[in-house]
Amino acid sequence: MPRYPSAWLEELRARSDIVQVVSAYVPLKKSGRHHWGLCPFHGEKTASFSVDGERQLFYCFGCKAGGDVFHFVSEIERCSFSEAVQLLADRAHMDVPEMEESEEYRRQKSQRERLMLANKTAARFYHETLFKPAGAASLAYLRKRGLTDQVIRRFGLGAAPDAWSALTDHLLQEGFTLEELRLAGLTVIKEPEKGSDGKSGKRRAFDMFRNRAIFPIIDMYGNVLAFGGRALGNQQPKYLNTSDTPVFNKRKGVYAANLLRKQRHLDRVILVEGYMDVVSLSQFGVEGVCATLGTALTNEQAQLMRRFAPQVYLGYDGDSAGQHAILRGLGILEEEGIPARVLDFPDGLDPDEYIRRDGLAGFQKLPAISPAAYRLRRLRADLDLSTAEGRITYAREAAKVLRSLDPVERDSFLKELMVQTGFSRETLLEQMNLPGITPATVQERPRPARLNSGREAPASEDVTAQELLLSLIAGGQIPRGMAEEEDFTDEELLGLYRDLMAGASVPSLIDRAADDEARARYTRVLMTPEAEDKDQMIAMANDCVLRIRKNHYNRRLKELETLLTNTSPEEQGQLLQEAMELNTKIKKLSALAPASKHD
Ligand code: UTP
Ligand code: MN
Repeated sequence: MPRYPSAWLEELRARSDIVQVVSAYVPLKKSGRHHWGLCPFHGEKTASFSVDGERQLFYCFGCKAGGDVFHFVSEIERCSFSEAVQLLADRAHMDVPEMEESEEYRRQKSQRERLMLANKTAARFYHETLFKPAGAASLAYLRKRGLTDQVIRRFGLGAAPDAWSALTDHLLQEGFTLEELRLAGLTVIKEPEKGSDGKSGKRRAFDMFRNRAIFPIIDMYGNVLAFGGRALGNQQPKYLNTSDTPVFNKRKGVYAANLLRKQRHLDRVILVEGYMDVVSLSQFGVEGVCATLGTALTNEQAQLMRRFAPQVYLGYDGDSAGQHAILRGLGILEEEGIPARVLDFPDGLDPDEYIRRDGLAGFQKLPAISPAAYRLRRLRADLDLSTAEGRITYAREAAKVLRSLDPVERDSFLKELMVQTGFSRETLLEQMNLPGITPATVQERPRPARLNSGREAPASEDVTAQELLLSLIAGGQIPRGMAEEEDFTDEELLGLYRDLMAGASVPSLIDRAADDEARARYTRVLMTPEAEDKDQMIAMANDCVLRIRKNHYNRRLKELETLLTNTSPEEQGQLLQEAMELNTKIKKLSALAPASKHD
């Protein structure tokens, strides 16, 4: 992890007033102690995005994006922490100093850079080969698939020659080592087998991709991370992909992230299944399309897409595998609180086939179906509504789907459901078994907090920290006032703490235990902990206090979130204020904690 000299970073922070920085992107209005505006990170019509100039923090009560000025810039510019530092330094006319890097970090970084350089060199090799005799078969294939030269260049498509080691030889010549090529997944090394004469044969190196059309997988920063290779005929596998490497994890990226980043102000991202679908839609003029890399949608990929647009359309294949993947994908997007829609391609077509058949106009006419409508349609497809049994099952299952909707959307489906099943409105509503308070709609469910990414510790860990803290205090070396009564949520521990503060001796406390069980616990808790000296004991106590308070604040924040959904606007103001203050406290604690790092 790169670390900037902290004095320098603080200077930069001081010169980068968050209100000014944010104002360059979002019009802000001062109201009370904070500035407010429309959140740039999720679509909204009422301002829930606040900037606290006093504490130099921003926080969105809608989507819970939040942090300091560095976080803001890296979110809005979709860049890394170091790039945000660079941008702010430019703005403040400060030179970025050499970073302090650990030996291990430098080693990993230089290896990653080497592997990405090997990939970039390979991508160039494949792309150039496409227009040479060795790439003629791949070029003919891509042309047969209807791709223009323009789109071939846009995606940097290429050709892996029909040879054993054309790329490996080229990259060795360029100065890469076999080990680097193996790590990058470009070269497969076959270890020698012992021959019958006892002598071993030669070690051999083969290109991973041979005689295939190549799709480079490029991340949002333009790094080439991996490749997909399409067979030119019916060879298996149809697509060969780079397996995971030190620079590539197929569960974390999406295909065409580099283009997504360039397309600003997208109102939706379309997620499709295949490389070819992305390329083909792009050729026909559809923007904002990406694909998973041969796996089901993951939470990380959903989070990545959220950075590019406020909602995601699933444009999976019209075959049954694709349709199953849609239900799973909708589940993931819901988990991440990302509004979703489904593009349902007719006749079992995939997006590539569909847009070639019906053109851009046909594509734009495809309705984007809401998740509920899609789920109901899927239910109906598996049931026979002409039978009483089918209608009953449908009514029951549909009730489950509609239960989580907001009243307006639910109502829009109810009439249809009454007609389809023959049940009355009252019966259907009763079947939904709605709680007194309507849950927020799936669409509006806030995304998981990112501000407090430190996972909340379970209560038991909290108690462990309280026990350790108490034992340190019992040692008599900890300055008074370091802990407070509020730090002890466990009744027994609180009692012990009060008695200790009142001057009770440890042995007298243990004597006071009501039974054997209590005595055992008191003893364990009050025993002197392992610590080298007074300084270390103080440091440990400090650590405990930080942990306990952070948990405590996080719990209260959770409570506030629940309260917020059911209160009047007047009361909300107060709760929001409290939430903001809690977040500031948590941030401050994180800054104090010895284990926390900035990036
Ligand atoms: P499809 O089989 O739907 O292929 O796989 P496609 O995109 O329609 O490809 P064309 O039109 O036949 O060329 C969808 C995606 O699943 C992954 C690839 O990412 C592919 O784009 N896949 C498929 C593999 O990784 N390996 C395979 O053998 C097949
Ligand atoms: Mn296809």
